Amino acid sequence: MSILIKGGTVVSVTGAVTADVLVDGEVIAAVAAPGTLSEVDEVIDATGKYVLPGGIDPHTHLDMPFGGTVTIDDVESGQTSAAFGGTTCHVDFIIQPQGATFAAAVDEWKAKANGKQVIDMGYHMAVTDLKDGGTLEELATLPDEGITSYKLFMAYKGALMVDDETLFRTMETASQTGALVMVHAENGDVIDVLVKQALEAGNTDPLYHALTRPPEAEGEATNRAIQLAHLADAPLYVVHVTCREAVEPIARARDAGWDVWGETCTQYFFNSLDDIAKPNFEGAKYVYSPPVRDQSNWDVLWNAVRTDVLSAISTDHCAFLWDGQKTMGKDDFSKIPNGGPGLENRLQMIHEFGVRARRISLNRMVELLSTNPAKLFGLYPRKGTIAVGSDADIVVFDPEQTVTISAATHHSKSDYNLFEGTEVTGVPEVVLLRGQVLVEDGELVASPGVGQFVARAKFGEELKPEEVTA
Ligand code: URP
Ligand code: ZN
Ligand code: ZN
Repeated sequence: MSILIKGGTVVSVTGAVTADVLVDGEVIAAVAAPGTLSEVDEVIDATGKYVLPGGIDPHTHLDMPFGGTVTIDDVESGQTSAAFGGTTCHVDFIIQPQGATFAAAVDEWKAKANGKQVIDMGYHMAVTDLKDGGTLEELATLPDEGITSYKLFMAYKGALMVDDETLFRTMETASQTGALVMVHAENGDVIDVLVKQALEAGNTDPLYHALTRPPEAEGEATNRAIQLAHLADAPLYVVHVTCREAVEPIARARDAGWDVWGETCTQYFFNSLDDIAKPNFEGAKYVYSPPVRDQSNWDVLWNAVRTDVLSAISTDHCAFLWDGQKTMGKDDFSKIPNGGPGLENRLQMIHEFGVRARRISLNRMVELLSTNPAKLFGLYPRKGTIAVGSDADIVVFDPEQTVTISAATHHSKSDYNLFEGTEVTGVPEVVLLRGQVLVEDGELVASPGVGQFVARAKFGEELKPEEVTA
């Protein structure tokens, strides 16, 4: 099957050119001057549209047990929502159950995805429990299976949080195995004290979720992780950075030439303390960690993504129902499951408020949402670019069409949307995964099962076409 995507503006990190893109089977066969390619099975007219590399979301939580419940989007609903949002590949977190081997955790997560995949996916391994003579040695084997990043939670005391010994030993392992270390950087011990104090004082509303997780707790943990990773000689990626206190140590480390990268997430540019303070428990919709910050941080984050202090924007999609899941914490904010939906809205929101508002260029948007995640997480050049030989993961994006974001029309199973009522101009109109049309005319036209697990390359290495497995 061959497809010609005709006459669109093909956007990369460095340029934007009017060109035709020839897709042959699963890959891009040619990118050429308009009108120079012919003889194809199907033509997609992209005149007036952007032709973008499929989005890559490096941070999602599908079908994940968390906070006394399970995230509401499984692989099928989460990835369907991703496809409608122009994301064609994501990297999800496997959580090692306490006491379990990594092999058992991998099997469990792959079984959950089996037959449901709408887009391509890889896995990070969230380490919760390391033992000499067992999981410590097993951890070293994961990169050879294409799981080339280790995640550590420095928060969620009593649940996912690890101590500094586990953090440091994982970093030492990564320095030997070619894995990238990822951290959720908040000081979980300090937060635990502040949460207990708030509850003792009778402060149970969602707002106290934010007030008991101050920016200093994020800044301290970010700096600690950076210093420990430097000591261990491991590359470090700080997930969901929200505030100046965390941006500054990342900027310092990068200035010094250390192997440190950071991401932020769509919601941290748009949600704030005003949202989590909403009455009638509506604030619970905005309970995620690190928490919403005051609005002064929005510009800090835009500057950071513009200047490459932060190198990627993810969604941290961790969707729950407000009615039935968030309400578990009606009388105690610490029982509200942490997380929110967002997989579907990243491209539209960043295009509207980043590109159209002239905070970042179109090229930088492609870099932040696709090319950099591909490079950092061992998917490039197979993914993250429109180039000959790369997977034909392509979004034909109409920059003129206007829509209003709403839970009434999104594809997540969540009963709310963090950006409800926001009008955006720019819609992923046609979405292709490895040459197959996934979304067209507002419909999902491919069946679950079309997506694949991608064995990712080790940190700093390239993923060659033959290294992708079914
Ligand atoms: O609140 C959040 N972010 N939930 C998902 C788990 C995590 O910390 O990334
Ligand atoms: Zn986190
Ligand atoms: Zn997360």
